[in-house]
Amino acid sequence: MKNFGLSLGIAFLLCFCICTKLCCAGDVDNLHDICPTDTKDQKIFINGFLCKNPANITASDFKSSLLNQGGDTDNFYRSSMNIITAAEFPGLNTLGLSASRIDLEDDGMVAPHAHPRASELMFVSTGLVVAGFVDSNNQVFQKILNEGDVFVFPRGLLHFCFNAGLENATIFSVLNSQNPGLVSILGSMSAPYDSKAMKMLMQKLISLSSLDLGRIDMNLFYELGL
Ligand SMILES: *[C@@H]1O[C@H](CO)[C@@H](O)[C@H](O)[C@H]1NC(C)=O
Ligand SMILES: *[C@@H]1O[C@H](CO)[C@@H](O)[C@H](O)[C@H]1NC(C)=O
Repeated sequence: MKNFGLSLGIAFLLCFCICTKLCCAGDVDNLHDICPTDTKDQKIFINGFLCKNPANITASDFKSSLLNQGGDTDNFYRSSMNIITAAEFPGLNTLGLSASRIDLEDDGMVAPHAHPRASELMFVSTGLVVAGFVDSNNQVFQKILNEGDVFVFPRGLLHFCFNAGLENATIFSVLNSQNPGLVSILGSMSAPYDSKAMKMLMQKLISLSSLDLGRIDMNLFYELGL
């Protein structure tokens, strides 16, 4: 009887491990304590980066000052976003993490985009912002965030944020991949596509915006953060 309980326990644990692995698979597991990115000219291409020679690893590999300063917000969106991955911050290699900083001027926004390989946990350092994401049923989940508030964007879903206050806002976030990737709907539309399908799509979107935007409920517009 005792053995039966034990086997059941082991079976449950096995199921749990397999399920969490399948559902929440992030980056692959680390096989070393530490493996900072070898930033020398890469000649072998693998899934990730080669480790530095252990003899050359120092504490500096695990520190980055790249997020000390806000980026340039003198652009159409009045915002800047800086993501540091294992390519820029060697210590992140094989840890399944990256970090970012977003600066928003008082009228600034980050247009809808998605990270195909990571969920993102954001933390409002200063200011008042609205953050949200859209799920695959087109339902919008958004909240107003004060300083110190945290919001999470699930992996792969389109998300956005904009400044809802009167001052500049700064957001820091952590993503659970050393290379989260970034897919931006606006960026992908402005790419130099030659395909007929993309031209047709653009024409349809432009005619939609000139004909229908006047009729669209402004609340929806606000909810989408556009
Ligand atoms: C790494 O350290 C070895 C000695 O331990 C040295 O010969 C080599 O030049 C170093 N490589 C780099 C990239 O600093
Ligand atoms: C907001 O940020 C912009 C750009 O960095 C800067 O020029 C401006 O002075 C800032 N405003 C405030 C109130 O700090």
